[in-house]
Amino acid sequence: MELTVAVTGASGTIYAQRTLQLLAESGAVETINLIMSSVVPTVAQVELGVNLKDLNQKKINDWLGLDEKSKLIRFWQLDNLAAKPSSGSNKQAGMIIVPCSMGTLGAIASGAGTNLIHRAADVCLKEQRKLVIVPRETPFNAIHLENMLKLSRIGAQILPASPSFYHKPKTIDDLVNHLCFRILDQFDIPHSKKSQWTGDEVSPE
Ligand SMILES: Cc1cc2nc3c(=O)[nH]c(=O)nc-3n(C[C@H](O)[C@H](O)[C@H](O)COP(=O)(O)O)c2cc1C
Repeated sequence: MELTVAVTGASGTIYAQRTLQLLAESGAVETINLIMSSVVPTVAQVELGVNLKDLNQKKINDWLGLDEKSKLIRFWQLDNLAAKPSSGSNKQAGMIIVPCSMGTLGAIASGAGTNLIHRAADVCLKEQRKLVIVPRETPFNAIHLENMLKLSRIGAQILPASPSFYHKPKTIDDLVNHLCFRILDQFDIPHSKKSQWTGDEVSPE
């Protein structure tokens, strides 16, 4: 399977890191086209204390804890509109935008394909491939909500970065993992822990 993962400048770079790690661990994905918006290094520095400036293959593999020779992640520059994910003729399963800023959400909802993230999402929609958007903002204004509704109506999956508590998380890692499991579930990609409510958790009485 080939997938595109885009990371934007919303809060929650850790969701991107964990999603990429879980995809790598799953063994179900052969190629991940990775695209990052220009704000990601700032957010990553603030939230994770990591330096994601001037990324190259080795730096990405280091960040994700992958073997330094791993070719799983293929990193594309944001302004490279000739990159693989910008073409519908590149067959891939779909795209995940995690986390997705309101800026990127708006650009996709308007059909503006001015950078590689917007263009790759546009391609997914026109080819009717799976597009999983993980928006992060609070509170949402009416423009954000309208953009989400618009994209949902044409087939995008809106999977908000809103952690749940029914699985009794004890750590931030538990919260992050649970959301990322739900992202992988959208593509039926296996992961180590269950993320679905089965009904067996409570007694019927
Ligand atoms: C530390 C930090 C946290 C941010 N958190 C959010 C957020 O949660 N949601 C959001 O929509 N924008 C957030 N922003 C603002 C976006 O980064 C900004 O709107 C940017 O233009 C988005 O561009 P992009 O979509 O190309 O990444 C944050 C910015 C910084 C520096």
